[in-house]
Amino acid sequence: MNIAILSRGYHLYSTQSLLKEGEKRNHTMEVFDPSFCRLSIQEGKPVLYYHDEKVDDLDAVIPRVGASNTYYGSSLVRHLEAMQVFSTVSAQAILDSRDKWTSFQIISKAGVAVPHTILVNPYLLEEQIATFGKNPIIIKLLEGTHGQGVILAKNAKEAMPIIETLHAAKQKFVLQEYIQESKGADIRVIVVNGVVIAAMKRQCKEGDFRSNLHRGGSSQSLQLSREEEAVALKAAKALQMGVCGVDILQAERGPLVLEVNSTPGLEGIEKTTRKNISKSIIGYIERNKR
Ligand SMILES: Nc1ncnc2c1ncn2[C@@H]1O[C@H](COP(=O)(O)OP(=O)(O)O)[C@@H](O)[C@H]1O
Ligand SMILES: [Mg+2]
Repeated sequence: MNIAILSRGYHLYSTQSLLKEGEKRNHTMEVFDPSFCRLSIQEGKPVLYYHDEKVDDLDAVIPRVGASNTYYGSSLVRHLEAMQVFSTVSAQAILDSRDKWTSFQIISKAGVAVPHTILVNPYLLEEQIATFGKNPIIIKLLEGTHGQGVILAKNAKEAMPIIETLHAAKQKFVLQEYIQESKGADIRVIVVNGVVIAAMKRQCKEGDFRSNLHRGGSSQSLQLSREEEAVALKAAKALQMGVCGVDILQAERGPLVLEVNSTPGLEGIEKTTRKNISKSIIGYIERNKR
């Protein structure tokens, strides 16, 4: 098969890992940098050029669209879908999951538990903040990644100037209950085609509350509880993700989903769990094209 990885980082671990696994299975693998893709509609049909070459022989794509590139990246995936190219994540799934509030709405509708979260309404700010009482408040940008865009305020008094600043900077964000009992840890679960492939627990570094590996967190392999596994699968299904990384907090009232990533990094989790996630992704494509 002809398989393209949509990525701006040819040398990144995730890209290289997918390339290697695809080549091992005798597929023709390519990396498409979306910056060099030209999209058009001609005579009602989607047409795609990569550099100067017309693309018309692709069987499947693996989108690895970065947060800085959501609009163009998801548009490219939609174009390929219209060209009957199989994609491991749909354009709609990329868009839905990029916006944290939208994804909370979608997964909670499907019965997935999430932390108590409020979409900020600037006209009702004081009332909204009052609902947190004396508790800490998490302030979270809708499109933050790698832990950049998440702030922990000790209380309403500390939260107020932060919220006012973000509002003045025209940022979109939510307020969220702080799950203290998770003690700076969360769970990352990789789901491929409705099956859990790997799971790890991430712990934040001293003095932080964000467990992202990009923020210096550490990780170890984890055997999920039945409930955690069920929640991860339900969240992936609700957002219609063929491949995703589900982040879960272990709260006293059970597992709560924090977010679903359409482009989960593979380095941390493949090295931590020694599971070959790239191989599972290539296998998923093969089963779907048959
Ligand atoms: N409500 C919360 N309670 C406790 N910790 C949280 C909460 N929200 C986020 N965190 C911590 O911050 C990290 C980053 O938050 P997340 O919502 O996943 O944003 P990002 O997209 O930047 O990874 C999480 O992995 C978790 O460790
Ligand atoms: Mg996260």
